[in-house]
Amino acid sequence: MVICVKTYLITGGAGFIGSNFIQYILNQHYSVKIINLDLLTYAGNLENLRSVKNHPNYKFIHGDIGDKKILSDIFNQHDVDYIINFAAESHVDRSILEPEIFARTNILGSVNLLNAAKNSWETKNGFKNSKKYIQISTDEVYGSLGETGYFTEATPLNPHSPYSASKASADMLVKAYFDTFGMPINITRCSNNYGPFQFPEKLIPLIILNCITHKPIPIYGDGMNIRDWIYVEDHCRGIDMVAANGSNGEVYNIGGNNEKANIEIVKLIIEYIRNNYDSSVGENLITYVSDRKGHDKRYAIDASKINEELGWRPETSFEQGIKKTIDWYFENKEWMQ
Ligand SMILES: NC(=O)c1ccc[n+]([C@@H]2O[C@H](COP(=O)([O-])OP(=O)(O)OC[C@H]3O[C@@H](n4cnc5c(N)ncnc54)[C@H](O)[C@@H]3O)[C@@H](O)[C@H]2O)c1
Repeated sequence: MVICVKTYLITGGAGFIGSNFIQYILNQHYSVKIINLDLLTYAGNLENLRSVKNHPNYKFIHGDIGDKKILSDIFNQHDVDYIINFAAESHVDRSILEPEIFARTNILGSVNLLNAAKNSWETKNGFKNSKKYIQISTDEVYGSLGETGYFTEATPLNPHSPYSASKASADMLVKAYFDTFGMPINITRCSNNYGPFQFPEKLIPLIILNCITHKPIPIYGDGMNIRDWIYVEDHCRGIDMVAANGSNGEVYNIGGNNEKANIEIVKLIIEYIRNNYDSSVGENLITYVSDRKGHDKRYAIDASKINEELGWRPETSFEQGIKKTIDWYFENKEWMQ
């Protein structure tokens, strides 16, 4: 299988969403070539891609999106059609401790990638046909909601953490490349993802890991912070649809339409594990800890634009997705280590 119609440069493809996306794309389309550029930080893991590592249409390159030489080599050697930029520092807690690295990768890295694409794709009369840069952003750029309302694509950006501020800055740069140079771009802003291959510093895999190891499950504040949760494969399908058919220059929100308080999720996971895997796991593991600095109260996504324009909607209910996810972690305990 080598007929390659579209070449994707996926950055950060060894991380949680990027590795799910690569597997999704290789399963869905036989006519693609994937180049995965990843720095393999603590969050990147080539084990996530074991199932595709020998695929004839897949190539891994170890490197930094901030490295001009690597990017110019990639663009000289490959006729890249889509860039999907997943590469990022992605954990809010780490951004509070070490903001600079978030600025370096998420802002400077993105602008470096934009430049490399522009240099390769720009012609005297604009840009080559069928090329597109897609920035994978987050609902966190919109800030925090009260008890009601939803983020739409028109909601003003109001990020609070160094993580979300760095993502919002990158979004503004991507928009500037469209406004100034006419570069073909889309930005997707998604809510909280869960599913296989997520590094166990994030809420859901951390809860599962601590249930497996019988360690305390730390919950910030009163546990009533609300997030909208989406199964990662639904997100991947949305990105694929935006790459293929998204209107040039547009932002698309992607959300699971599934709001849950953190404490609700913890209790649900404990109950499933107690009933299916380990009857000694219980709510006594829950440990309330002081709240995260600047902790946003509620995120909720209005994803009607991508639904109306591209026909996307989430297909996995939270009840199905969370069971699949917990089962995956129990079946892949060695991956956790
Ligand atoms: N996880 C979520 O719930 C969520 C929700 C919305 C948006 N996003 C966005 O999706 C993207 C992927 O998120 P994730 O959860 O998969 O993150 P992740 O932390 O699991 O993976 C990030 C990947 O980027 C790589 N990377 C980091 N710095 C790099 C650099 N300088 N050059 C090349 N590679 C580098 C890491 O090695 C890792 O493989 C991020 O941009 C994030 O902001 C995530």
